[in-house]
Amino acid sequence: MALLTGLILSDDEAFRRDAAAVLRSGATPVTITHERTAADAQPDLVLVDGRHDTQAALASTERLRAAAPSISIFMVSLEASPDAILQAMRAGANEFLTWPPAEGACHEAIARAAARRDQSPAARPRATTTVFFGAKGGAGTTTIAVNSAVEMARLSRRPTVIVDLKAGLGEVTLFLGVRSRYSLLDALDNLHRLDGEFLKELVVKHKSGLEILAGSDHFDRPGAADTGAVEEVFRLLARQYAHIVVDAGSQLTPSATAALYAADTIYLVPNPDVPSVRNAQRLLDRIGQLGACGERVHVLLNRASEPYPIAPDQIESALGRPIEHMFRSDYRTVSAALNSGVPLSLTGNTEIASQFDSFIRRMLTPHAEAAVPARRSTLGLQRLASIW
Ligand SMILES: Nc1ncnc2c1ncn2[C@@H]1O[C@H](COP(=O)(O)OP(=O)(O)OP(=O)(O)O)[C@@H](O)[C@H]1O
Ligand SMILES: [Mg+2]
Repeated sequence: MALLTGLILSDDEAFRRDAAAVLRSGATPVTITHERTAADAQPDLVLVDGRHDTQAALASTERLRAAAPSISIFMVSLEASPDAILQAMRAGANEFLTWPPAEGACHEAIARAAARRDQSPAARPRATTTVFFGAKGGAGTTTIAVNSAVEMARLSRRPTVIVDLKAGLGEVTLFLGVRSRYSLLDALDNLHRLDGEFLKELVVKHKSGLEILAGSDHFDRPGAADTGAVEEVFRLLARQYAHIVVDAGSQLTPSATAALYAADTIYLVPNPDVPSVRNAQRLLDRIGQLGACGERVHVLLNRASEPYPIAPDQIESALGRPIEHMFRSDYRTVSAALNSGVPLSLTGNTEIASQFDSFIRRMLTPHAEAAVPARRSTLGLQRLASIW
């Protein structure tokens, strides 16, 4: 899958907000840029508001098409007369949408835009963005994000970066035993000169090949005012790396939300306990409300060893989706790796290290192995419902 960049051309702020929510809510991740940035950063799709001033919208469409033959242009109108559709197509629009769009119409148009972008001769292989999000603090999100990222770099042999999005107490560099002179904040504060060369200066390289954009040491940043810049950093990283891994912590901050919008895959990390499962249910609802498409959210159960406080099939029933992968509980091995700053795959032949290996192999080649069969329990939902 691929991250698309969308630009909404409209003077109507409420429309821009609603259109952004619609663009973001489908299966293909779309981040919204608010301005036309550098020439090499042109959007993949532009949504032109033609609801009121059709002539101005047609003129904008013609200009856009002349300047960028390969972008997808969506013309939005209040009604779909054959004449209006014809004029929009002649001006260079690829899609014609009535507003508000019918269920699925916009998402189908986005899927066609993604296919067009990928087929264009100038198309580069696109980055995958994988976001790890904890169902509660201490669930093991950093452990899973860091070890997954190391395995991704090792197994894919393609440029891979991990971004520590947590404000103040990010621990990604600590887990990997490296120090970084720079952090995510340097990227956020230098967007105007953030190109491939500058990014290389900001990241620190681990011996596994993984590169790290270290966490901020400010407790209040990245904050709400940084959201646009965080989205922009993800777009820029997607031009430099094949895989982007994000440790987004366990708080739905504005920057974590920006990461969810940019994600191809969101891994929600609960433990098999009541607080985790309860929070995971709420987070799944909230992520759905935010419009970051639920299809992209998968569940990774961490510290999963018998006796389970709550059995995996009950967790699946409560969350209404299968557990994609389970990482066993092995405090000794995990904390030894953490305290020595060496990722699990480099500390020896342990079961948990091989679980990361198989998890990432399956992620990199999703069709190579049969999907993990979902376990079902008829009791789970009722039992959990009675717990809270
Ligand atoms: N599979 C596991 N088995 C046993 N212990 C684990 C496992 N995964 C993580 N831990 C332990 O849990 C603790 C918290 O892990 P980690 O820092 O990765 O969690 P986190 O969700 O990122 O926490 P925070 O909310 O503080 O960011 C650490 O002591 C770690 O060693
Ligand atoms: Mg953490």
